[in-house]
Amino acid sequence: MSALGSLGRPRLHLRETSSTNERARELALAGAPHGTLVTAGAQTAGRGRQGRTWSAPAGAALLASFVVRIPGEGTAVLPLAAAVAVSEACERCAPVECAIKWPNDVWIDGRKVAGILLEGRPQEGWAVLGIGVNVTVRSGDLPDELRETATSLLEAGGGRPPAPTVEAVLAATATALERWLIADPADVAAAWGARDALRGLPVRWDTGHGLAEGIDPSSGALVVSAPDGRRTELHAGEVALVRPGEAD
Ligand code: BTN
Repeated sequence: MSALGSLGRPRLHLRETSSTNERARELALAGAPHGTLVTAGAQTAGRGRQGRTWSAPAGAALLASFVVRIPGEGTAVLPLAAAVAVSEACERCAPVECAIKWPNDVWIDGRKVAGILLEGRPQEGWAVLGIGVNVTVRSGDLPDELRETATSLLEAGGGRPPAPTVEAVLAATATALERWLIADPADVAAAWGARDALRGLPVRWDTGHGLAEGIDPSSGALVVSAPDGRRTELHAGEVALVRPGEAD
């Protein structure tokens, strides 16, 4: 088996923890091998991008963090590959169609079903890939501020088969990740681009607005054209929030 053919083993499952990313980070620092997986039924301090929190009712979401050890040049494509893999896994486990909202939110019909948080030390050859997927979450069980913007595989699938389960989504995610992590970066970028939820739309971010033109395949940056026609690249670590919205 190749070094990248064992995502999900060994696996540590916790009934509850603060954050699976935190547990996986500790394991990575202690030398855990590529593919090590931490899952949890619930998180008390689930982490999202840009310092936000991630909440999900116990037992209703996939809360998973993989230790990924790949050479430095592979890390640029990792967030893109992860979003494509999670999208495919969701579509395998429920009758839904997924799009990716830059940088790597997975959307169904404009609502977020999954988020990805990449942490770690790429320069040391490891990262923690944290994945949260709302599987059987009911919107009524979400915090007020998420009810209009989030969805789950169960709700988006409208009760039609297949009925999604957390373990099925995990298995499909690991399988898809194994494939996409070693794919040609150009293929990853093309698959990402085919699911791009923002392309061609006016977008706003914390310091500006413009038209989304897709991603730069090598850096994963979002390319936008400003109202004066100049093209700008937005980098995921630097921009707090990009959302669709009419330009002024
Ligand atoms: C985001 O969309 O802001 C990223 C959300 C990532 C959430 C997952 S849930 C499993 C893993 N553990 C965490 O603390 N966060 C990630």
